[in-house]
Amino acid sequence: MSYETKLLTSERCDIELAARLLANGEVVGIPTETVYGLAADATNEIAVSNIFKAKGRPQDNPLIVHLSDLCDLEKYVKNVPEIAYKLAERFWPGPLTMVLQKKDIIPYVTSAGLDTVGIRIPVHKTAREIIRLSGKALAAPSANLSGSPSPTTALHVYNDMRGRIPAIVDGGSCGVGVESTVISFEGDGIRLLRPGYISLELLQEVCGTVYHDKGITEAVSENEKVLSPGMKYKHYSPKANITIIKGNIEQFSDYVNKNHNENTYSLIFDSDKAYIKGKYLTYGDSSEEQAKKLFFVLREFDELGAKQVYVRCPSSIGVGLAVYNRLLRAAGFEVIKL
Ligand code: TXA
Ligand code: MG
Repeated sequence: MSYETKLLTSERCDIELAARLLANGEVVGIPTETVYGLAADATNEIAVSNIFKAKGRPQDNPLIVHLSDLCDLEKYVKNVPEIAYKLAERFWPGPLTMVLQKKDIIPYVTSAGLDTVGIRIPVHKTAREIIRLSGKALAAPSANLSGSPSPTTALHVYNDMRGRIPAIVDGGSCGVGVESTVISFEGDGIRLLRPGYISLELLQEVCGTVYHDKGITEAVSENEKVLSPGMKYKHYSPKANITIIKGNIEQFSDYVNKNHNENTYSLIFDSDKAYIKGKYLTYGDSSEEQAKKLFFVLREFDELGAKQVYVRCPSSIGVGLAVYNRLLRAAGFEVIKL
């Protein structure tokens, strides 16, 4: 089906309209604090399969289910470990997704055949209000076409989803800029499946032991079994070839200044500008800024027609691990160590 995609505001009447569309089983683009989501009623199989269609997403990649209130948690999941409540107390509402045992009310199309489901309560006011007014739990993957960088503005969603969904709610640009941290529970500890704004260091403060999924910093082959199916896919990719360069700014600038041509760009820290002769975009100096700008600049490279992008490797501490993880996947794990 082809839609005339409406761009809605965050005004009350538009939020109510979005909530009505969702209650009626439609797919709507919504803002969250991390990235924009492509939302639909998580308990409605047809609505959820329309998310997969709109995104062109592989059927074996499960969706995150968004709630507006902790009181609703046990309607959708069972056997919630005590430590999950401790994490909820500290980090919800916020950019943390917990993988828990699903109840039958969540259909297998939402969990991609798994007996578990990822749950999160976003802190974004408009997102929570839309969920609350719809009266539904909302399944929502990032609102990009599968394989392209996650959207951090309503315009990004519009560019990818025009004609594919009835409406997008504009909530401004996303404050965090990378997707939520995803964790699962293992024995008395937790496992980090996807790094995000809630960092490994913060999780360790609450949980002590945090295991790592291999896919965070290493390539995983298509046939390998991984705990987070999303980790299998090349992701977050602009059209340009992305290469991560590890080294100090002298080594980095030597390398890119020698290798630059008309279609080559660098992605550098703000403080690197003076060293670079060719074309570049910057993504800030702190990990928080880099997280916020990363997907935005990856989309900008497409608009500029970049063919090759050399990236100054970010720190992998705190939210930096999420930035590094997304870049590794955008680069198809192509890293040059100088
Ligand atoms: O910040 C976010 O999480 C955004 C916003 C819209 O909330 N959503 C998002 O969804 O990033 P998506 O579908 O693009 O990524 C979901 C990730 C995938 O890597 C998926 O494999 C993992 O979560 N995941 C979901 N359910 C899971 C489950 N039951 N077991 C393991 N991993 C799961
Ligand atoms: Mg995604």
